[in-house]
Amino acid sequence: MGAFPEGFLFGTAQSAHQVEGGNVNSDWWAWEHAAGTPCVEPSGDACDFYHRYGDDIALMADLGLNALRLGIEWARIEPEEGEFSRAAFDHYRRVLVSCREHGLAPIVTFHHFTLPRWLQAKGGFLFDRFAALFERYCRRTAAALGDLIAYACTINEPEGLGEGGFVLGVNPPGRKGDIDGMWRVAANLLEAHRRGAAAIRAEAPVPTGVTLALPDLQYEDGATPGEHPVELNARVSDQFFELARDDDFVGVQTYTRNRFGPEGARGPHVDWGQGLPQETAETTQLGQEVYPQALGNTIRRAWQRTGGTPILVTESGIATAFDEKRISYVDAAMREVLASVAAGIEVRGYLYWSLLDNFEWSLGYGPTFGMVAVDRQTFARHPKPSAHWFGEVARARALPAL
Ligand code: BGC
Repeated sequence: MGAFPEGFLFGTAQSAHQVEGGNVNSDWWAWEHAAGTPCVEPSGDACDFYHRYGDDIALMADLGLNALRLGIEWARIEPEEGEFSRAAFDHYRRVLVSCREHGLAPIVTFHHFTLPRWLQAKGGFLFDRFAALFERYCRRTAAALGDLIAYACTINEPEGLGEGGFVLGVNPPGRKGDIDGMWRVAANLLEAHRRGAAAIRAEAPVPTGVTLALPDLQYEDGATPGEHPVELNARVSDQFFELARDDDFVGVQTYTRNRFGPEGARGPHVDWGQGLPQETAETTQLGQEVYPQALGNTIRRAWQRTGGTPILVTESGIATAFDEKRISYVDAAMREVLASVAAGIEVRGYLYWSLLDNFEWSLGYGPTFGMVAVDRQTFARHPKPSAHWFGEVARARALPAL
């Protein structure tokens, strides 16, 4: 097995809402506290990353990592329509400066699932001025922070926004089975990405792209494509791949595969809103099949569908209580990256989801994706063996021999 290319980014990924804590002005905070939603617990103080970012960034640098994908929170930056917070921009500048000082390339996600409450009240992703408002938020933010950003991600997993909020009802606004709504959300998000990315590039010379939810869909003989939510998502991904032809990179986010036989979906899958299943040797705490090989297939698909747009693996991860299982998952996923690179595909980085055990949306704090455990009473960080293992891989720019 060869080495990873020089300059390859080794790091972790997170969103603002899942780690910062106290995100009271966002629609998710309201959703977590509303009666009748599937949320098992509120996000509360999360990992208090909002105040502890300095320690976490120093920890990553000590481990040997060189990149952090982090989210910024629209609800903090624009707390009411048209009112931009200088203090919020200053805060995020301090976070990005800290990344730079510690040799971490800051990869910044402008939108990761949450909306300011005022925007959700107007209709959220269905609001007819959504794309225009996103464009303005991107322009103002890139003007304030762009000089410090290494890569900009406009919208995280646009596929999941229609699915979670309109088909499954596990995200705000909590609609179920509204396929028409899902398609209207997708149309607005395509427009928002196009306009947001252009606004960012106009303000700062930052490579910009979208990060896509790409499970590996596998059809067995006799299976015919249908309307399963992950299949609808794949059609949304295809539309974004078209736009990504003109982008500077595309973010590939893959956790597992989804198999389809003649009778439809088969094999393990996540039952959002149904609580957590029992983790087994073959499945994760979310009920996903442990299948790190999926990443090679989705990297190839992204490369093909975009006609050769450079790739960043912006999320790859496993929810498990067993850290040795995490190490073997990441090892196998990173071997897929190396094989893709050897096949001539430009993959620029691998970002593990996630540094910390954090808030897994409606499933709360039960699933543990982190390479670092977080004490929920004291916020103390406890690196797991995988954190040290991953740091060594980054330092060596190579995986250990099998
Ligand atoms: C999302 C994250 C989430 C992770 C693990 C991704 O789809 O971007 O917010 O925590 O998967 O389920």
